[in-house]
Amino acid sequence: MSTRKAKCIGVLTSGGDCPGLNAAIRGVAKAASGTYGMEVIGILDGFTGLVENRVMPLTDRELSGLLTLGGTILGTSRNKPHKYPGPDGTLRDMTGACVETYRRLGLDCLVCIGGGGTAKNALQLKKAGLNVVNLPKTIDNDVAETDVTFGYDSAMTIATEAIDRLHSTASSHQRIMLVDLMGHNAGWLALGASIAGGADVCLIPEVPFRVDLIVSALRERREKGRRFSIVSIAEGAVPAEDTDAPELVDGSPTTPLSARLGAILSDAIGVETRVTTLGHVQRGGMPSPTDRILATQLGVAAAKMIAEGLYGVMAAVRNNEIVPVPLEKVAGSKKTIPLDHPLIETARLIGICLGD
Ligand code: F6P
Repeated sequence: MSTRKAKCIGVLTSGGDCPGLNAAIRGVAKAASGTYGMEVIGILDGFTGLVENRVMPLTDRELSGLLTLGGTILGTSRNKPHKYPGPDGTLRDMTGACVETYRRLGLDCLVCIGGGGTAKNALQLKKAGLNVVNLPKTIDNDVAETDVTFGYDSAMTIATEAIDRLHSTASSHQRIMLVDLMGHNAGWLALGASIAGGADVCLIPEVPFRVDLIVSALRERREKGRRFSIVSIAEGAVPAEDTDAPELVDGSPTTPLSARLGAILSDAIGVETRVTTLGHVQRGGMPSPTDRILATQLGVAAAKMIAEGLYGVMAAVRNNEIVPVPLEKVAGSKKTIPLDHPLIETARLIGICLGD
């Protein structure tokens, strides 16, 4: 807890973008300037702008129209201050340059909006003597110590709509439709969208899969007269160690797992398969109302923490409340789906095959 009243703060967005970043920037800046009388400066392109001293003002004018806008007006990057790519491609420690920019701008705190990687970077800056407050964002929902991240609800809405739409074409052609979803090494996005969209099979990194079990589930569906199926595949899904389909492990790295699995299922069941890869569509566009509210609440909470002199924390959601969590607890940890999580039980109890 610091006793010096914050007068000027910086805000940056770092890591992969997601819907709600602009709503969060707006939430921080409106509360910080309007309620607490601080000046707010936007740092461009993540930590790159801090290293290179590239900034923009964040006054009422820049904040107008931000609530519904996808992406981030500040730009983002995955550059790390302590492993910063030099012109010759080697990585250098540019923490000193970040500290210099922070001091030159007269900042009292830096708000870092990002996921787990951003928390690590922010912790490095904290160790270098800067005041930092983080906000958790990512479509993957895998930031440790928070029940939820903003961006997740919007991405899940997009993925769910894709699964909804695949149903009618799958049914018309009596096909098995495989859909690739993002999520990095966590299955939150795929599992959420599969329950919401009514997928028949959902493969997530937390539950390694066996092909014979998927084939049985899909055959059983056909025997019951359902002549189409939807299989969702999270980005990090992996075959079980005792896999019955070694080609999924050793197959061509240029052919995605979904395509290889689609070919195996087509042969085994004797129906056509098609693969849809949603990719970055899941990260683009307008935030959902839930994400707008969450991003605004987290932004406002960050401004309040700064006004109270509370630094070195991430504003986290715990049981519907926003609480500060020390960055040390967040950095370097990931929140995957616990195997006893109610969502996994829900999926199983409504008959979604998880491949195990
Ligand atoms: O973290 C969000 C995310 O979309 C992950 O789901 C995915 O693994 C990664 O970013 C993709 O990153 P890039 O934008 O670099 O392709």
